[in-house]
Amino acid sequence: MYKICSLFAGVGGIDLGFLQTNECEVIYANEFDKYAVETYENNFKTKVDCRDIHDVKLNEIPDFDIMIGGFPCTSFSVAGYRKGFEDNRTGDLFFEMERIFKVRKPRVIFLENVKNLVGHNNGKTFRTIIEKLEEAGYKDKIRYQVMNACEYGDIPQNRERIYIVAFREKKDYDRFQMPLPIPLDNNIYKIFNFETKVSERYYYTPGKYKGNIYKLLEESMDDDSTVYQWRRKYVRKNQNNLVPTLTANMGEGGHNVPLIKTQYGIRKLTPIECFYAQGYPKEYKLPTNMSDARLYKQAGNSVVVPVINRIAINIIKSLK
Ligand SMILES: C[S@@+](CC[C@H](N)C(=O)[O-])C[C@H]1O[C@@H](n2cnc3c(N)ncnc32)[C@H](O)[C@@H]1O
Repeated sequence: MYKICSLFAGVGGIDLGFLQTNECEVIYANEFDKYAVETYENNFKTKVDCRDIHDVKLNEIPDFDIMIGGFPCTSFSVAGYRKGFEDNRTGDLFFEMERIFKVRKPRVIFLENVKNLVGHNNGKTFRTIIEKLEEAGYKDKIRYQVMNACEYGDIPQNRERIYIVAFREKKDYDRFQMPLPIPLDNNIYKIFNFETKVSERYYYTPGKYKGNIYKLLEESMDDDSTVYQWRRKYVRKNQNNLVPTLTANMGEGGHNVPLIKTQYGIRKLTPIECFYAQGYPKEYKLPTNMSDARLYKQAGNSVVVPVINRIAINIIKSLK
């Protein structure tokens, strides 16, 4: 079994993609959002260290082979502040990973982030990340690629993310390749519940929200085979029958959760449907006592599990 150290673990999407190979075990996970930890621990046997990562000492982390982490992207995403490493609140979190990998030198480092990481600050942010990996001993042994979930994960979501894999050993790096695109066989009917009625609270009905949103939705949502988004003043129809990129702001209330039209009316996706749109399996269980706002945020913050799994399978092959 390859031992994994999972940082910024969230609800464990990256962990799950690696665990599904049946060749890995998570021996250390860190995440400071107690609600995400609750969801994580509802599904995995690893007990999460829920301290701020800045407070974790190196010698408190047991030995591991693979480090995984989708470090917070608020400072890099177009939707975020575009401040990158200068953002004191979250900008230094990559360096918290570096603090650990430069000493522990795991056999593999796996990083996931928003696509915009590459172009951020004229490419300087990304170059810094690569330089730090190189300085730690991973020079010329790093592969990265931007992949869209609908092309690489058989998941009908438009979600472009960068995946970075760094190897300590040249022979592992030489054997590794990023997954190739695969056809999209999956579709929204397979992952969302169009057949039965869900709880009333997810439906839009006349007079339920201010500003006569319902009328606008009803007029614009003419197609029950795709997913819509409310964009402050208008409704956006997503092309290609894909789910738009799920984001953490789904948890902020308002009308940020994507919408579908079903025979029972126009409604938001439910939290579990958002997890399914990230490729989580049916066995994944959400805590029953947690607010929708928290669950939406957790889903939006997470990853597309099948994309991670395809990369993880190739990583494990290259280590053998
Ligand atoms: C982009 S999310 C990662 C989500 C994860 N990949 C998943 O599949 O759910 C980043 C996570 O980092 C956590 N985080 C942010 N700052 C942290 C810190 N200083 N210490 C520990 N965790 C932190 C956030 O709470 C958030 O859950």
